[in-house]
Amino acid sequence: MSEPGLARVIEGTTELLVPDDFCKKGPGTKRGDLFYNRQMEFGRDISVMFGREMFQEGQKILDGLAATGARGLRLANECGVKADFILNDRNLMAAVLIKENASMNSLEHVAVTSRDLNSLLADEAFDYIDVDPFGTPVGFIDAAVQSCKSRGVVAITATDTAPLYGTYPKTCLRRYGSYSSRSPFAHETGLRILVGYLVREAAKHDRACEPLLCYHADHYFKIYARIVNGANRADAAIRRLGYARYDKESLAREITDSRCGKADAGPLWTGQLFSKELLRKMSVTGDLGTSSRCEKMLTVWREEATSTPLFYKLDELARRTKHSPPKLVVFIERLEDAGFVASRTHFDPKGFKTDAPIDDLIEIFKR
Ligand SMILES: C[S@@+](CC[C@H](N)C(=O)[O-])C[C@H]1O[C@@H](n2cnc3c(N)ncnc32)[C@H](O)[C@@H]1O
Repeated sequence: MSEPGLARVIEGTTELLVPDDFCKKGPGTKRGDLFYNRQMEFGRDISVMFGREMFQEGQKILDGLAATGARGLRLANECGVKADFILNDRNLMAAVLIKENASMNSLEHVAVTSRDLNSLLADEAFDYIDVDPFGTPVGFIDAAVQSCKSRGVVAITATDTAPLYGTYPKTCLRRYGSYSSRSPFAHETGLRILVGYLVREAAKHDRACEPLLCYHADHYFKIYARIVNGANRADAAIRRLGYARYDKESLAREITDSRCGKADAGPLWTGQLFSKELLRKMSVTGDLGTSSRCEKMLTVWREEATSTPLFYKLDELARRTKHSPPKLVVFIERLEDAGFVASRTHFDPKGFKTDAPIDDLIEIFKR
């Protein structure tokens, strides 16, 4: 691979050659035939933190849509686990660049393939499958949940946020079989629709999907979920699907079993988005380029790990009550002092989650 047209970047402790017109901000565009988005470094740092806790020796770890190899090579280089790393991209130029990047980091043992991902997934089983496509992941999810070994992990990125947020509800219904809806907490319902879709796709094959770490950041959603064999487990996961209801007048939101109103979002996942156990073990080290952002996120995820779904925003309550909003930490303390569970949420810097009923919430807000 000739150097012109390529730039050298470092992520974590991994050096990479990437297209020199690489996208530094936003969702990223495909430049020429090769894709690299510097803004996704945070997400790749999180992948490394996840892999450091979850990968085990001898496992088969697949970066299915690897592009320059940024994610898969970092997993191979920075997780400190002797596993079989396989990086795949159907674009031959990408595969050549991945090999060059692998050798630049002395990772010659990493296997590089250039196949259609669904055909690769049909042929082989993996312990970890990362699917990071342009836009929606729906075309790869069925193959990924079938190819994943029992107790393995699928890691899914979705950048088609507008349908999931409720901006394009018809597209969401077509793609995910769920109604999306605009609301102050649409980032959360969007993520939960994506998780719910994964749960239903896994259940078709008598497999349960157990969310381990599901979040929203920048312009994308990311889900890390364990896939476990068993029809009963799959049934139990299906029972955690429901709908999100929002009453604009009262600001009340609730999770319901069935879709009663036209604006209800779902079916969506109503269970936890995080494994507390995993978050307790995950840690941030200084070699990660976005370590301070990772630290902040990890702290908030830990806080919200067992919280009630469907967050509120301080601004909503301020508008409704015509009172200026208190500081978020102060308000959370007030809710806790009143005996309610309350936490910050990663979905919004002014957002919070609580089990307080709306009337109590408004009462406490006005104090
Ligand atoms: C968004 S990029 C992946 C970015 C990469 N994971 C990273 O962190 O930089 C998507 C990649 O998927 C590849 N791709 C698209 N469809 C594919 C398919 N059906 N099978 C294999 N690769 C595919 C594209 O060539 C592209 O390089």
